[in-house]
Amino acid sequence: MNNVTPIKGDGPSHVAIIMDGNGRWATQRGRPRLFGHQAGAKRVRQVVSKCPELGVKYLTIFAFSTENWKRTQSEVAGLMALFRRYITREANFLHQLGTRVRFIGEREKLDEKLQKLMNYLEELTAENDETHLTIALNYGARDEVTRATQRLAVEVAEKRLRPEQVNTEVLASFLDTCMLPDPDLVIRTSGEARISNFLLWQSAYAEYEFIDTLWPDFSPDVFADVVARFSGRDRRFGAVKA
Ligand code: FPP
Repeated sequence: MNNVTPIKGDGPSHVAIIMDGNGRWATQRGRPRLFGHQAGAKRVRQVVSKCPELGVKYLTIFAFSTENWKRTQSEVAGLMALFRRYITREANFLHQLGTRVRFIGEREKLDEKLQKLMNYLEELTAENDETHLTIALNYGARDEVTRATQRLAVEVAEKRLRPEQVNTEVLASFLDTCMLPDPDLVIRTSGEARISNFLLWQSAYAEYEFIDTLWPDFSPDVFADVVARFSGRDRRFGAVKA
């Protein structure tokens, strides 16, 4: 581990993180899984706070996937309560930090109280521009592309769009992430080397970092270290280097 902070401009502008390993972190301590999720939620604040120093303008984090409903009812309920508490407690902190918060994913299936809090946080922070934090909640990339395709099909059926006008830009404009640049770097913690249905379309040219650190141990120094490694990479986007 080194403490090198990358020079702004050289690093990734958009970092997306699969925050994995909360359950194992708690189990290692003989505590219930929700204890790990609580510790994980505390990390988010530190990681968001570190972004300006690292030149990370956009941070997208995977909080709950469309597949996570398969967990036990008590873990799902605990996570939903955690998200509600998180928004209530962190709203002012994030706002003062100048963070603009947005959510991606299918909101309709979330409970009404949580949806209201999500709308509240988005509205509260709508004018902020220091760091753009996007929280993926009930998000799955296949679900996102399916929903986008349904909306696109309506546009075509109602003749506002001709089939031949559909190209990558048009499709991207129907995705939940239409307001975001593509991620430059995708990090997954906890040693698993999987993408798990996260930003599949948007990450076509992203660099990936799979690191062993469990999410509750993902300190600002670990974050800085991963970002510094990215800065040393040679990205060609499919072209040959001149
Ligand atoms: C994966 O760990 C983590 C989750 C499914 C939930 C992510 C949630 C948080 C980090 C906390 C809250 C976030 C916000 C924005 C408030 P896991 O349970 O899969 O861990 P395991 O693989 O060790 O079991």
